[in-house]
Amino acid sequence: MFAMTVEHKASTNYYREQYRPQFHFTPEENWMNDPNGMVYYNGEYHLFYQYHPNSNVWGPMHWGHAVSEDLVHWEHLPIALRPDENGMIFSGSAVVDWHDTSGFFGGESGLVAIFTHADEYPGTDKPRQRQSLAYSKDNGRTWKLYEGNPVLSEPRIIDFRDPKVFWHEDTGRWVMVIASGQTVSLYTSLNLKDWEFASEFGEGEGSHQGVWECPDLFQLPVDHSTDVKKWVMLVSLGDEPGLEEGSKTQYFVGEFDGKTFVNDNAHDKVLWVDRGWDNYAGVTWSDLPMASGRRVFMGWMSNWRYAIDTPTSVWRSAMTLPRELSLQTTESGVRLIQTPVPDIESIQEDGYLFEDVELKSGGNLFKGLKGNAVDLELDLDVSRANNVRLGLLKSEQEETVLEYDGKNSTLLFDRRRSGDASFHKSFAMTQSITLQAPKGRLKLRIFVDWSSVEVFGGDGEVVLTNLVFPSEESQGLELSTDGTVYVHKAKVSPLRSVWNRAAE
Ligand code: FRU
Repeated sequence: MFAMTVEHKASTNYYREQYRPQFHFTPEENWMNDPNGMVYYNGEYHLFYQYHPNSNVWGPMHWGHAVSEDLVHWEHLPIALRPDENGMIFSGSAVVDWHDTSGFFGGESGLVAIFTHADEYPGTDKPRQRQSLAYSKDNGRTWKLYEGNPVLSEPRIIDFRDPKVFWHEDTGRWVMVIASGQTVSLYTSLNLKDWEFASEFGEGEGSHQGVWECPDLFQLPVDHSTDVKKWVMLVSLGDEPGLEEGSKTQYFVGEFDGKTFVNDNAHDKVLWVDRGWDNYAGVTWSDLPMASGRRVFMGWMSNWRYAIDTPTSVWRSAMTLPRELSLQTTESGVRLIQTPVPDIESIQEDGYLFEDVELKSGGNLFKGLKGNAVDLELDLDVSRANNVRLGLLKSEQEETVLEYDGKNSTLLFDRRRSGDASFHKSFAMTQSITLQAPKGRLKLRIFVDWSSVEVFGGDGEVVLTNLVFPSEESQGLELSTDGTVYVHKAKVSPLRSVWNRAAE
C-alpha cells in the first residue's frame, strides 16, 4: 500500500512468539517505550515510539514509526528519527502545520515533530535535554532535522523533556507543555521555532513521588455538552522506590487561557489515569478532525519498575489499546472516562452471548469457553451476591483473577498465579480498587491479549491495565459467584489477530 513499507518477514511465525499480543501494537523486534508524535494527517494515524533498533532493552533512542487507517491495523514504516550530533531522540509530539507557520513547507501544510534531543554537556556526564524540530513533506515517510536545532534550551533544569505541542485557536499560538523537573512548563510560539515562556504548573499539585514526564494538555466537553468544556492535563510520574506501584500517570482537570493552567481540584488531590500498573507515558493524538470531536489516548503498556525484565523476545513492550477520552460529572467532581475505540469491534469473531440468565453459586457461566485474545462484555446484577469471580487465562496451575466485592464496592485484581512472575519481585501483586455498581448493576469490559488484561469498569470511569505472562495453554475462562447473579448480558468475543498479513 505504501511505497516505503518495510518488507515483512514472510513467515507463518510472524507475530506468533510466546506472549506476543495479537491486537495491540508491538514493534516487530527490539525495545519500545513511550508513544510519540501521535498525529492524524491525510487519512492516517501516525504512531511514533521510543525505539532501540538493536536491542531488547532501553538504549540510544530513535523514533520508530507505524501508520494506521483505523487505529487497529498497523503498517510498520522505517525508523523516522535517529540520534545525530545533538544526541538521542527522546519523547515528543507532532503536529500538522496547516498554515506553514514554520516556513518549512513553501506555503503548503506538513508534519512537524517537536522532541527532546538528549546528550551530555560537553566534557561532562551531566545530562543535557534540549528541544528540537524535524519536519516531513511526504506524509511522514521521510524526515529532515531542522538545521536550527535545538530550538529551546533551559540549562537550569536537568529534566527538561517530552514537549507536547498543540495549536491554541483563541490566542492564535502554538502552546508547548513540557516536563521540567517536577512541574510542567508552558511556552508559546507563532512559528514552532521561537518559544516564549508562559507559565509553570505543578508545584504543590497532585503527586510528586517521581520525576514528571510526558505531559499533555487538551480540552474536552463535559458530559458531552457543546458549551461546557474543561482542560485536562496528563502528567506521568517516573518510578521511584517510594511509589508502591512503580511508574504511573496522573491527570488534572481545570481551566486554561492560552498561557496558564489552573487546577479545579484541591491541590493535594491525586487522580490516576489508570489504576493498573502497566499504562505509562500515555498522550493523545493531535489533529483528529474537529467534526469527530474525538480525543484518542494511547499509553505504553509497561512499568519502568520491571520493563526491561519482562520475559519476551524478540520484541519488548506493547502499547495499550487506543482509548477515546471524555469527561463526566460524578459525585466527586469531573472525571476522565476511557472507552476502547469502537473500531476494535471490527476484529471480533462470532462468540457467545448470554442474555437474561441466572448464575448460581457452584456454576461457571463460561464453562468450556477458552481464549487468550478475547473481548468480554459483562452487564450483571450483583445485588444478590457478595462475590463475583472472573477467572482469565486459566489452567490448573495458572489464573488471572478479577473479583468483585459488592459489599465494599471493590474490584480485586490478582496476578500472583497468572504465569511467569519470577522476573521481578514486584510483579506478583494483587490490587483492590473502588468500583461502584449502581443499584447492583456491575458493568465490565475486559480485553485479554495473551500477555495483558485491560479492564474498563462501569462507563469507563475506572480503568485497569495489567501485564501477565501465562503459558499458552492457560486459556480457560470462569464466571462464578457465591450467591446469585442475574446476567443481563455476558458476551465473549474472540478477537482476530491484526498481525497476520505476512501469512495471508
Ligand atoms: C518516559 C521517558 C521520557 C523520555 C523517554 C526516554 O518513559 O523517560 O521522559 O523522553 O522515556 O526514552
